[in-house]
Amino acid sequence: MCSLLGWGFLCCLLLLFSSGVQGAPGTPSAAPEQVHLSYPGEPGSMTVTWTTWVPTRSEVQFGMQLAGHLPLRAQGTFSTFVDGGVLRRKFYIHRVTLRGLLPGAEYVYRCGSAQGWSRRFRFRALKNGVHWSPRLAVYGDLGADNPKALPRLRRDTLQGMYDAVLHVGDFAYNMDQDNARVGDRFMRLIEPVAASLPYMTCPGNHEERYNFSNYKARFSMPGDNEGLWYSWDLGPAHIISFSTEVYFFLHYGRHLVEKQFHWLESDLQKANKNRVARPWIITMGHRPMYCSNADLDDCTWHESKVRKGLHGKLFGLEDLFYKYGVDLQLWAHEHSYERLWPIYNYQVFNGSQETPYTHPRGPVHIITGSAGCEERLTPFALFPRPWSAVRVKEYGYTRLHIRNGTHVHIQQVSDDQDGKIVDDVWIVRPLHGRRMYL
Ligand SMILES: [Fe+2]
Repeated sequence: MCSLLGWGFLCCLLLLFSSGVQGAPGTPSAAPEQVHLSYPGEPGSMTVTWTTWVPTRSEVQFGMQLAGHLPLRAQGTFSTFVDGGVLRRKFYIHRVTLRGLLPGAEYVYRCGSAQGWSRRFRFRALKNGVHWSPRLAVYGDLGADNPKALPRLRRDTLQGMYDAVLHVGDFAYNMDQDNARVGDRFMRLIEPVAASLPYMTCPGNHEERYNFSNYKARFSMPGDNEGLWYSWDLGPAHIISFSTEVYFFLHYGRHLVEKQFHWLESDLQKANKNRVARPWIITMGHRPMYCSNADLDDCTWHESKVRKGLHGKLFGLEDLFYKYGVDLQLWAHEHSYERLWPIYNYQVFNGSQETPYTHPRGPVHIITGSAGCEERLTPFALFPRPWSAVRVKEYGYTRLHIRNGTHVHIQQVSDDQDGKIVDDVWIVRPLHGRRMYL
């Protein structure tokens, strides 16, 4: 009995020291960490999100001079996050939205409060309107261990190669692990990229724990749906992010499948009304509809859930995306890179034999989940399927350049080959008759 009490006391002490403390026991810190940006969808704005270990005010000081005084101020709020792990670690997530930014201008900022400030970071405000050429880095499945693509992504970011990042689900492996310390470590790791570029996300299966609570708390995506699904405009493109996970973790609410589906349809209708201005419709979701990997994942099944919906008939996304003329579908989950021929219902709809991606008659799918994580790469099935155009089993990430209303450039960077471009393709779609493939 005595020894049980002793253990109980020791556990309590450990809990006291561990919760709300960064990494190891010590004094909780008011210094901001895990700083990252996101675009809230409103032209001329940018949201800064960060973590502290004690509650503090949430302020961003910013300006356009590299050194010296930062004349502009924006205030925000924080929310208290309690992780679902046994230690119930508690930390504070701050969100401040900067508004009235000059399109394309470079800003310097720091975040925090009088109790502690971050170092200074730089970012470029997104340009307004439709007549510019956004450049994006796109990848999924990036872990806190074995994050192969990260060093090159950091260098690319420093060189100003991108306007935004799309992280197509699966972070850290996993953010909830070790009482969410793995999440903290991951968010610190991506800071050199994510504090300089809007880091736009969608949830993957690795975010599932405690009803996606780490994902919802740590990122700040547009809309009021905790980043599960949302859309935003970027130059000549409308980008839709959604959760494939609603089809798999039904215990968090079967109704989410239907709710998201209806939201997607209404968003696609609106996007099509605006198609003359923003011709490209690009989707991002974690688990692909198709893939030719050698595993038993959903995408290897003929009637995959994402493609055909629940029970092979309820709320499938292929018909919906085809009907509304989605141009490009970005996926991850498989730890490899695969480009598909334009496809609908297993049929290849190339524009022509010579130029398959010019006037494609079906959506183009890119699966880019090889940024690097502890699970390493996923092998492919021995024989590629007829709809599979290119397969690369190497670490890397995708560069997506939305050149204008008719041209999109996709390149795959290989980290195994020191940054070599291992796939390079242009999608060309005319402006007229853009709405439907039918
Ligand atoms: Fe995944």
